[in-house]
Amino acid sequence: VTDAVDAAFRNSAPQWFRARTTHEYDVVRQRVGRDVALERARILDFGCGELPVAAASFALRHPASSVTGCDVLALNARVLESSLREHAGQPVPSNLQVLQAPPNGFRWTGEPFDLVYSWSVFEHIPSADIRTNFALIRDCLAPGGVFFFQIGGLYFHTSGSHLGSVFPDEPWHHLTRSLDELESVVMSQPMAQDARLRLWRQFVELNRLTAEDFLDAAADAGLVLQSHENLRDKAHAPPARLLRSHTLDALVTSEIRAVFRAA
Ligand SMILES: C[S@@+](CC[C@H](N)C(=O)[O-])C[C@H]1O[C@@H](n2cnc3c(N)ncnc32)[C@H](O)[C@@H]1O
Repeated sequence: VTDAVDAAFRNSAPQWFRARTTHEYDVVRQRVGRDVALERARILDFGCGELPVAAASFALRHPASSVTGCDVLALNARVLESSLREHAGQPVPSNLQVLQAPPNGFRWTGEPFDLVYSWSVFEHIPSADIRTNFALIRDCLAPGGVFFFQIGGLYFHTSGSHLGSVFPDEPWHHLTRSLDELESVVMSQPMAQDARLRLWRQFVELNRLTAEDFLDAAADAGLVLQSHENLRDKAHAPPARLLRSHTLDALVTSEIRAVFRAA
C-alpha cells in the first residue's frame, strides 16, 4: 500500500469521501487479500457509480494494478477529479478506466479480472436480471479469480427502503406504512423535486430479494461460494405484526458479504 495515499484518504475531512475511500477497500482487502495480490491485480468495480471514488482509491493505493469501473450511469469526471484533488490531494489515477454500459450490457473483451467486486449494486437490479448480471461477472473472471459481493441495505431490514434519511427514527417504516403514506412523506421533503423523485423511484425499483435469494442466483449463474457472512443488526426488536408475515432473520439481516470463484 502506498502509505501517503492511504493516509490522505483516512485523514480526509468529508465523511462520505473518507467512507467511500476506506471502508470498501478495508473490507475487500480483509476478505480477499490472501487470494488476490492487490498490488498487481486486474480489478473490476461492477456498478462503480457516477462518482467512483472507491475504484479510484484502489487504483491510487496500487499503481501497478489496473482498475476498471463500470456502471449504467456515465462517469462524472469533473466531480471525480475535484473530489480527489480537494479531499486527498490526489489526481485521477492513470491506471483507472471507467466504462458505461446499458443494463445487462457489460461485455468485457480484455484480459480477465483477478478480482471483481460489487458494492451496494445488486439490490438495484431487477430480479429478472440478477442471474444475467452474476453470469456477466463470472464470464470476465480469470481462472482462480475471485468475486466479492456486498449489499449493505437488504430490503427487509430496518432501513432497507434506502429512505433512512427521510424516516430516521422509524425502523421498518417501509413494511409498516402504506405506499401512499411513504410517498407523501418523501414528496414533502425539503429538497429539489428531481431529488425527491429520484429517491422515490429508487425505493420502488428495489428488487426486495433476501440474502438467500442472491446466493441462490449466484450459484445458478455458475459462481461457487467460498465464504459468506450475513451481518445482523439487533438494535431494534421487530414489531409483532411483522414477525407474523416475515422471518426474524430477514428482518434483522442488514448486510451480506460473500466471496465466489467461477466454476
Ligand atoms: C447505490 S449505488 C452504489 C455505487 C458504488 N458501488 C458505491 O458503493 O458507492 C448503485 C449503483 O449501481 C448501479 N447499477 C444499477 N444497475 C446496474 C446494472 N445493471 N449494471 C451495473 N450497474 C448498475 C447504479 O447506476 C448505481 O451507480
